[in-house]
Amino acid sequence: MTGSAGANGQAVIDTASTSVFHKFLDRTYPSIDRGEGVWLYTTGGGRILDACSGGAMTAGLGHGVVEIADAAEAAMGDIAYYYAHHFTNLPQERLAARLVDIAPEMAKVRFLSGGSEANETALRLARQYHVDRGEGTRWRVISPAQAYHGGTMATVSLTGRPTFRAPFGPYLSEHLHIPPSTPRFDPTGAAALDALDEAIEQAGPETVAAFFCEPVSGASLPGYSPPDRFWEGLAERRDRYGFLVCFDEVVTGMGRTGGWFAYQGLPITPDIVTIGKMLGGGYMPLAATMCRQPVYDVLASGSKEFDLGHTWDGAPLSCAVGLAVLDYLERHDLAGLAAERGPALLDRLRAALEGYAIVGEVRGRGFLLGVEYVDPRDGVSIPPDRLEIAERIDACALENDLLVMSTHPNADGFAGDQTVFAPALTSTDEELDEMIERLARVVGEVDRTVTDRLANGGTT
Ligand SMILES: Cc1ncc(COP(=O)(O)O)c(C=O)c1O
Repeated sequence: MTGSAGANGQAVIDTASTSVFHKFLDRTYPSIDRGEGVWLYTTGGGRILDACSGGAMTAGLGHGVVEIADAAEAAMGDIAYYYAHHFTNLPQERLAARLVDIAPEMAKVRFLSGGSEANETALRLARQYHVDRGEGTRWRVISPAQAYHGGTMATVSLTGRPTFRAPFGPYLSEHLHIPPSTPRFDPTGAAALDALDEAIEQAGPETVAAFFCEPVSGASLPGYSPPDRFWEGLAERRDRYGFLVCFDEVVTGMGRTGGWFAYQGLPITPDIVTIGKMLGGGYMPLAATMCRQPVYDVLASGSKEFDLGHTWDGAPLSCAVGLAVLDYLERHDLAGLAAERGPALLDRLRAALEGYAIVGEVRGRGFLLGVEYVDPRDGVSIPPDRLEIAERIDACALENDLLVMSTHPNADGFAGDQTVFAPALTSTDEELDEMIERLARVVGEVDRTVTDRLANGGTT
């Protein structure tokens, strides 16, 4: 990375010499102090091209949008915060109404501060729905094993990945996981349906509260969605067994995959949908749990409350920023443009990465694309864990002043290393070309390193 060496621990922070408890404890972290569009500026004077909307698929409008900052300032001047127990506020009411307009299948919206909270809220809602209907035996959730739905204990329970679950096993609920329906294991979606049937049978249908998944995967299987046959089969089983379908659209919601919500392009309508990330656009921690009218009606005529929220739920400041983000998305038709521009973006990325032995598949929808890596010796298998392709890609990308986000779930056995390519929806064609060119350079370098090392019998 250029220009990142700094004095006094200002520009590059060493984890050993800071008071911050960082995520990785054996690294140096460059510090970013400004963003504009798809560019991040380091304290040391470097400039990084952001191909992943801030790294977590969140800053979908790009950085430094003045209208959003102005809306936040105005809301802070009016009133920033009070607790949602006694009062409501116009930004919250307006934002909920606007979300129901763009998600007409949904009827009610509960605002929260992050995706994990939204997913926990979806779990509580599903459970309370069944309890209020007099079916208190229903509590188990079935989800694809490769999933990531958040970092709180209830949401970690939703993943079947051993590396996420360890060492927290004693805190986790015993839900059920089916193998992810990926092209490698299940190209038609039939195997996932068989696994679902088996899970329902084993658990007893009367214990199953919900099926929980992403309609198109974010980081866990970037850009992947099972075939229609799986969704149709899931809808049939919901009708047969009476569980709810919860879609985690924390990544995909608000236009990321082209269209407002990914579920709108699938042959199934979920009962509960969670959104986050692009709802606040990286300008405010903001998320929501939405549900269909019949789900709400059960609580409205049952326990008549849906308590246990969080301090910042529906606060005027967060919702005012959410409204400004939605205004911006609508004014620039960013969801529509993501649908229109997505196929060409995918073609360009595929063409640029063609021929590299470590690249297995390049896939995705709208502005949520993914690269899945394979063992270069057979072009199919999950790469050996020790090759650490994901770590190499991210490090080499930063050396090339490019931000992408790669994951390394190899040890879990469901998928290999992958890179998420999820630029801001406002990126120009020239910026996208530059991101693709840099990523191709990075993949080429890592491809050479990895194949050389394998050829020389090396392990790292
Ligand atoms: C699909 C998905 N769900 C939920 C979450 C959790 O969201 P948060 O980190 O805002 O709690 C994430 C975070 O990356 C995610 O990718």
